[in-house]
Amino acid sequence: MSTPGTQTTFSAEDYFRTQHPPPTLEHDVEKVRAFVTRHREEGRPVVLVTSGGTTVPLERNVVRFLDNFSAGTRGATSAEYFLQAGYAVIFMHRQFSLQPFSRHFSHSTNPFLEFLEIGPSNPMSPIEPGSASEEGETVKVLPSMRKELLTVLRQYHAVQRAGTLLTLNFVTVDDYLFMLRAVAQELEPLGRRAMFYLAAAVSDFFLPTQKMSEHKIQSGKGSLQIEMDQVPKILKPLRDYWTPEGFIVSFKLETDPSLLIPKARQALERYGHKLVIGNDLYRRKFEVVFVEKDADSKDGFRETWVRLPEGKTEIEEEMIKKLVEMHAAWKEEKGRT
Ligand code: PMT
Repeated sequence: MSTPGTQTTFSAEDYFRTQHPPPTLEHDVEKVRAFVTRHREEGRPVVLVTSGGTTVPLERNVVRFLDNFSAGTRGATSAEYFLQAGYAVIFMHRQFSLQPFSRHFSHSTNPFLEFLEIGPSNPMSPIEPGSASEEGETVKVLPSMRKELLTVLRQYHAVQRAGTLLTLNFVTVDDYLFMLRAVAQELEPLGRRAMFYLAAAVSDFFLPTQKMSEHKIQSGKGSLQIEMDQVPKILKPLRDYWTPEGFIVSFKLETDPSLLIPKARQALERYGHKLVIGNDLYRRKFEVVFVEKDADSKDGFRETWVRLPEGKTEIEEEMIKKLVEMHAAWKEEKGRT
């Protein structure tokens, strides 16, 4: 690596040697270790779902940062379907992005306050001091919303009782990369029973700590020019060193649909992982393409389009169904060898 301040390409090794891990990393790793040990003993497959965007801070005392569009819908929705399929889920998401279960009510299109009304409290029920019912009023769920809320609440409570969901937070691209490496290393002993579902929209560029302004960048000097360095592609060490047996699924987002398949193929060639799910920015809720290597096909690849079936609302249901089958086949293959 050349001197920080002049270089533009970090290897993964250089990156982890020169950048700083998040302060809560050790604490998070302990939680992951306990979670993985428990589900390993119980014979459950474990999936790491990454979700949401990463920020790139421009100052060490951060006031300004770059961000991207990802709301975490894909990751949060997929996590629910993995849980339904019997997986233990490590949900590693951007702080304040959507989460499984609460996603149904936390988004601006369905805010939970719209579900509630104030009504008279039941005079027969005991009144707790300090509760709203002290004034003779209580909070109630609108009758029209009860069925939907009950369905989600039942699923949420079942998952809590089973202890099959572990949630971790990241904010910056540094947090994300250090956390991904640490979690992958904890999952490594699971071999083929671990899946990596990398739906987070990770920044490709960052400002190394060594190049960052300590304090808020002052506006007095006129226009601002920032040269960012490239974030090392982490799929490579993930597949080669951290979890060689893990079932790794990456995503490829494009805005030009003609690039989707070529870029997905290129990623498979480069990183040698299991599957790339290609999605177009505007069509991503209706169709995605699964791109895999296929030794039997003429050009060495296989593409399968997955589309939202009529009458369904979430394409992730179809995607996860298919992935669970592919993962089972991958584990089985190992059993035979
Ligand atoms: O959250 P939503 O609003 O629902 O949107 C979901 C989504 C569109 C963000 C999601 O479906 C998706 O496509 N996520 C990946 C976006 C993308 O194309 O990222 P990328 O080109 O930067 O990375 C491609 C793959 O390489 C990713 O799987 C990523 O894990 C991996 N990567 C990225 C950066 C990096 N330094 N190293 C990596 O290995």
